Amino acid sequence: MAKIGYYSRKPLPLEMHKVCVVQKTEIIPVEERVKAIRKAGFNTYRMESKDIYLDMLTDSGVNAMTNEQLGAMMLGDDCYAGSKTYYRLADKIKEIFNKDYFLPIHQGRACEYMLALAYVKPNPGSIVPMNFQFGTSVGKIKYCGGDYVICLKEEGFNKQSTDPFKGDFDLEKLEGVLKANEGKIAFVRIESGTNLIGGQPISLDNMLAVSELCKKYGVYSVLDASLLQDNLHFIKTRENKYKALSIREIVRKLSDAMDIIYFSARKLGFGRGGAIILNDEKQYEYIKTFVASFEGFPTFGGMSVKEMEAIRVGLDDTMDEDIISQGPQFIEYLANELEAAGIPVVTPPGGLGCHIDAMKFIPQIKHGHYPAGSLASAIYIASGARGMERGAIDEPWDSETEDEPYGSMELVRLAVPRRVYTVSQINYLVDRLCWLRDNKDLIGGLHFETKGPHQFYDALTADSDWPEKLAAKFREDFGDSL
Ligand code: F0G
Repeated sequence: MAKIGYYSRKPLPLEMHKVCVVQKTEIIPVEERVKAIRKAGFNTYRMESKDIYLDMLTDSGVNAMTNEQLGAMMLGDDCYAGSKTYYRLADKIKEIFNKDYFLPIHQGRACEYMLALAYVKPNPGSIVPMNFQFGTSVGKIKYCGGDYVICLKEEGFNKQSTDPFKGDFDLEKLEGVLKANEGKIAFVRIESGTNLIGGQPISLDNMLAVSELCKKYGVYSVLDASLLQDNLHFIKTRENKYKALSIREIVRKLSDAMDIIYFSARKLGFGRGGAIILNDEKQYEYIKTFVASFEGFPTFGGMSVKEMEAIRVGLDDTMDEDIISQGPQFIEYLANELEAAGIPVVTPPGGLGCHIDAMKFIPQIKHGHYPAGSLASAIYIASGARGMERGAIDEPWDSETEDEPYGSMELVRLAVPRRVYTVSQINYLVDRLCWLRDNKDLIGGLHFETKGPHQFYDALTADSDWPEKLAAKFREDFGDSL
């Protein structure tokens, strides 16, 4: 990571790139923003990009690409089987991860589907222990007749903490699960970093210990490396024991310990795609049959060769400390600015994005009125920034009880796509969130028109005309400013 001291200013995250290509964006007036969020059913997933100023919904598939990636895309060798592109990417993966076999797959959740088809069985249902669940991965496990067990250490659930590695497994709990379910474990899933608890990292030590336990109980260790690039930065900067190792050495140590690695290249590799990589030829041949049936011929697996070339270059960038420190530094800056302004955020800042604790920000909105959904709508009205609800709207319903799921987390995620937004845009957002903090009593709740199970992309209704009142106060305070 570039170490830059400042002479007369408070340090700012410093971009280690210059901009080659830009995309125009605009801010629509606050009254129009209210209409846009109402039309979208107060669900930011349903919004149109034209109405958004800062798109902070996700860091997935929306990271800025380099001129070298764009150039490499022209090398794509479009050929059904055995393209040069496949072999170039396979060589890059071998160089970085030291694994012999690589299956291209069109995105992360499709990798999860392939692994579930291969290893999760019903009657008796297989068990997949994991540090924490992610919607796309557990969906496939359940679909194939299995179930999952969360083995996150207790501190991981603490939203305000100083623990540098909140994504760590509780190793004792994991061992207990492995012991109690001998013969039923499909694999152990290690999510590095841990998305739904705030992009929190897992330590290299913990991942190595999990791999040892997997060996002891004869089960596969499967690394979800989708968010690995941020996690690598945190290992390098927070885990003293491995400070002397280069990023490539850390990856190698981790990779050598894992049986199977998969990732969404919408995050890792700055492209759009995915991959499963492993060393065991027999297992490779086995998983390949599913890839050929469901994804595409196994030398492209549903991916465009242009994206495969971009990912090849993007994976090299992922080994560069200057590059991978950018995301976490911007997130840390945003989180620190918000915390200093008295806005409750998940700490320590993680990767992927900054997470605001909605239950603390607007305590007047209770469960059943969707605090995180309400806050995400209010943030959009105040700023034109689109965040993501991470709470009861997003949570899958339990099909057995049909009860509304109220998890412990009601968060608004403000993802920071890598190298997309500037410090001045982040400062603008902080300003609007400070205004919202001072007007938070105007924020009301949301509800679904119909009771019963709903999907995370379904429409809601505002409990009152609070969005219009919030916009009217904005107009009063800001005059003719957008
Ligand atoms: N694993 C993790 C840890 C993820 O964060 C995601 C996606 C996936 C797997 C699935 O990958 O989208 O390529 O199918 N996370 C996105 C997000 C959707 O916005 O956090 P995918």
